[in-house]
Amino acid sequence: MAFKERVFSGVQPTGNLHLGNYLGAIKRFVELQANYDCIYCVVDMHAITVPLSVWGGPAELTRNIREVAAAFIACGVDPKRHIVFNQSQVSGHAELAWVFNCVARLGWLNRMTQFKDKAGKDRENASVGLYAYPNLMAADILLYRATHVPVGEDQKQHVELTRDIAQKFNNDFHESIHQHGHGEAFFPLTEPLIQGPATRIMSFRDGTKKMSKSDPSDYSRINLTDDADAIAQKIRKAKTDPEPLPSEQAGLTKRPEADNLVGIYAALADITKGDVLKDFGGSQFSAFKGALVDLAVAKLGPIGAEMKRLVRDPTAIDAVLVDGADRARTIADETMKAVKDIVGFVRR
Ligand code: TYM
Repeated sequence: MAFKERVFSGVQPTGNLHLGNYLGAIKRFVELQANYDCIYCVVDMHAITVPLSVWGGPAELTRNIREVAAAFIACGVDPKRHIVFNQSQVSGHAELAWVFNCVARLGWLNRMTQFKDKAGKDRENASVGLYAYPNLMAADILLYRATHVPVGEDQKQHVELTRDIAQKFNNDFHESIHQHGHGEAFFPLTEPLIQGPATRIMSFRDGTKKMSKSDPSDYSRINLTDDADAIAQKIRKAKTDPEPLPSEQAGLTKRPEADNLVGIYAALADITKGDVLKDFGGSQFSAFKGALVDLAVAKLGPIGAEMKRLVRDPTAIDAVLVDGADRARTIADETMKAVKDIVGFVRR
């Protein structure tokens, strides 16, 4: 069965939105709007899966939800033509996640590397929500029967699990799906969209570690709200090696810091890494970093300024989220009605 093409993606409101979130995800969200119906979600229910001391408590969560919504809009997501909302306003996410808790197998979740990373050594003390996190993510995507999900490389395993859940649901309930007039398959096998030169942006302090919100060093990342001075300082201080830049992309292997900065330049300029090396092959890092500072300030400066302007009017942001949630709920309710019928729940 052909499914209506639809894009869904989510970003957690856990503070410190950074260049990796922008280049790996939000910039792609903006580009996809031209060709798809898109739903972009601030996944606030995912944010509370880590300890309260990490997500920061109620006031901080509220602030961070608005900040992610502001980032979507400041980067160019159009909340009128597409849908922008926060997850907890549409109850179908939690409802479908429960059904998926009963479809997904323990063995599948035990393989999730993000759980292992986030739970660390103290697994006994991790929340049940952190463990079930990928099922909620599958529910986010499949509640809208989304066919395409733009994400960074680190989310690939979760999208693959989403496909496994969809497949098992389609198989387990094959007859019921057919009986209720949904053809051969109710859920699509969603495609991850992980493309371009910036699917995994690395830390500025260590080219083998992912750029992340939780790195204690602010110099490891560029935050979307950093001003021009901070952007310039962080790029100038970014770790590099002593060699000049290579002229060919093959010369970037085993040079993770060089590869990372060239990838960032390419993504910001909408060109390939090969194109960057045509211009900068043989250059010293000092010259290349100067050009990267100019480019990054030109592209990110206006986004940070617009985010700061938008968050000053929380009422306006909340109105966007309520409107988006109302439209999301219309689609979600249809899916949940069908899922309840397929599973055999009695409903009104
Ligand atoms: P989150 O909030 O950690 O990150 C949001 C998006 O940013 C991408 N990203 C990166 N891309 C490139 N380089 C990096 N260093 C980097 N760091 C983060 C992430 O891959 C992601 O696309 N589980 C998701 C949120 C989620 C979701 C969903 C995504 C919940 N439900 C449904 C898609 C569909 C997460 O924690 O992303």
